[in-house]
Amino acid sequence: MCGIVGYIGDRKAYPILMKGLYRLEYRGYDSAGIALVNDNGNLSVYKAKGKVSALEATVQDKDISGTVGIAHTRWATHGEPNVVNAHPHYSKSRNLALVHNGIIENFKILRSQLEKNDFHCISETDTEVLVQFIEYMQDIHKCSLFKAVQLALKNVTGAYAIAVIDKQNPDQMVVARKGSPLVIGVGKSENGNPEFIVGSDATPIVEFTQEVIYLNDEEIAYLDRSGKIDIITLSNVKQTPQVQQISIDINELEKGGYPHFMLKEIYEQPDAILNCIRGRLDTENKDVFLSGVIDNKNVFKNARRIIICACGTSWHSALIAKYFIEELCKIPVEVEYASEFRYRNPVVFPEDVVIAVSQSGETADTLAAIQLAKSKGAFLYGICNVIGSSIPRATDSGTYLHVGPEIGVASTKAFTGQVITLMMLGLSIAKVKKTITDEKLHFLVGELINIPDKMRWTLEHNKSIPEFAQMFTYARNCIFLGRGYNYPVALEGALKLKEISYIHAEGYPAAEMKHGPIALIDEEMPVFFIAPKHGMYDKVISNIQEIKSRNGRIVSIVTEGDTVVGNISDRIFSIPDTLDCFVPLLSVLPLQLLSYYVACAKGRNVDQPRNLAKSVTVE
Ligand code: G6P
Repeated sequence: MCGIVGYIGDRKAYPILMKGLYRLEYRGYDSAGIALVNDNGNLSVYKAKGKVSALEATVQDKDISGTVGIAHTRWATHGEPNVVNAHPHYSKSRNLALVHNGIIENFKILRSQLEKNDFHCISETDTEVLVQFIEYMQDIHKCSLFKAVQLALKNVTGAYAIAVIDKQNPDQMVVARKGSPLVIGVGKSENGNPEFIVGSDATPIVEFTQEVIYLNDEEIAYLDRSGKIDIITLSNVKQTPQVQQISIDINELEKGGYPHFMLKEIYEQPDAILNCIRGRLDTENKDVFLSGVIDNKNVFKNARRIIICACGTSWHSALIAKYFIEELCKIPVEVEYASEFRYRNPVVFPEDVVIAVSQSGETADTLAAIQLAKSKGAFLYGICNVIGSSIPRATDSGTYLHVGPEIGVASTKAFTGQVITLMMLGLSIAKVKKTITDEKLHFLVGELINIPDKMRWTLEHNKSIPEFAQMFTYARNCIFLGRGYNYPVALEGALKLKEISYIHAEGYPAAEMKHGPIALIDEEMPVFFIAPKHGMYDKVISNIQEIKSRNGRIVSIVTEGDTVVGNISDRIFSIPDTLDCFVPLLSVLPLQLLSYYVACAKGRNVDQPRNLAKSVTVE
């Protein structure tokens, strides 16, 4: 939540910062701002309520010169989204400007301390307190900005990634992080001069350099226009900068001809899944190799229990994994909402394996949940998409999804990537625990490698969804029902619809209908059934009949060629046949398309739905 970007070098900072903000807009989009030390030495701060485009319009006639600057796109926590509360914030003297992602929990205490010393904040934000406090430290200690940031942060409780610039020292920028992500790109301009591009993730950076430094928690970095970089910790230990190479294809950050990132990401799934399984599933010998499990064979062999912590869509993929891993590995799997787990004093044994599933690798609750599990001695395993993000760095081992950057706020390819990665994990654990025969392993892998083609078929054979979605826009409520492996798909279908179309939707295990939701059924209520010819097929048919006899409108996802469900449904969408456990990888696709086209038909901002953010770095 909130994206920050910074630049110092010999190029014009404004276009680099603005492009960076567009790339980071998925992290928050209720207001945006930019601060530049202009060529004439002024420190200009421009802000706008709304999206980055609103900021761009605001600065049309302003001085946007300067080769050092910082910028921010906000998802409000403290204070409503307006211009005053937007970042960057000035210090009292207006010499400093700061952007921040995170929450300063003790900001009220710091604020009253500042007020006693004649430093007054004009916004309602926790962030402004920080920039005032840094200047207050400069005043009383007569020290450098670098030192003042360190002294100020020692007084702070909470999470932050910050970037600060100083009008009086335009050749430097100071950045720091604790609990919120921060990446420093180390590059060279066209003139061969050093430059630094700072971002909440690598997306504003990759266009300029592939060399990055991931700042660790409680580290503060001094970046100098001459290319000098110093890193110290809060407790004053000097760190050696570790430069790493990243590779993100710049085309993956563009819409590539699609109207929205979400649609692009839905259609990317067959290829994304191929990338995900590459090198992990042996297509010739029908085997699985997950280095995270191979390297920690004994941990998995002796694990007493698996606990999976996640939020949102990632929680749904974890629920599918529970069914799969329990069935295959004969080991209990608990799936926890990270936000509940972290605060309820859970029982965790040192022999437990705790798995964090997170697209962004930055979700604050998931990160805190695994830190708690770590303190109780559990082995931590991360399943994340964003390389170098906080969760992979906090876990003992893990597997990246490799599905490419996901920009649309509603998760699609990361979901299917998580499901297939968790299935590869299940197969690998079953191998080390010897709970699977070679024949069964070959059989399951043999079908898993067909999934990308079957996904392609599903996307190509459901071309009537856009037209169907038009008819659907009247709906005020919807119910999604499934059983077994498709119960989590029902939850995911409902979440997708509500988050981007704002239609109220609920997902339920189909048999639970009778315990309440059935009271809602009338001729106006669309009910979606995930009813493949597998699992509890006959029982799902009975559940459909129960709805039909109460005049509900029934839309079903069925196995290709199925006529039984077709005869009792108002509309069907088909998927190819596969094994029961792999159906979610296909059955979710029509539901993703449906929510996308309903949202478009209702004129919603699909990639940036209201109030949501892709990376939830606050609890
Ligand atoms: C937000 C996003 C969801 C995502 C959830 C968990 O709510 O909008 O798409 O599923 O966070 O995020 P994570 O990055 O941990 O998977």
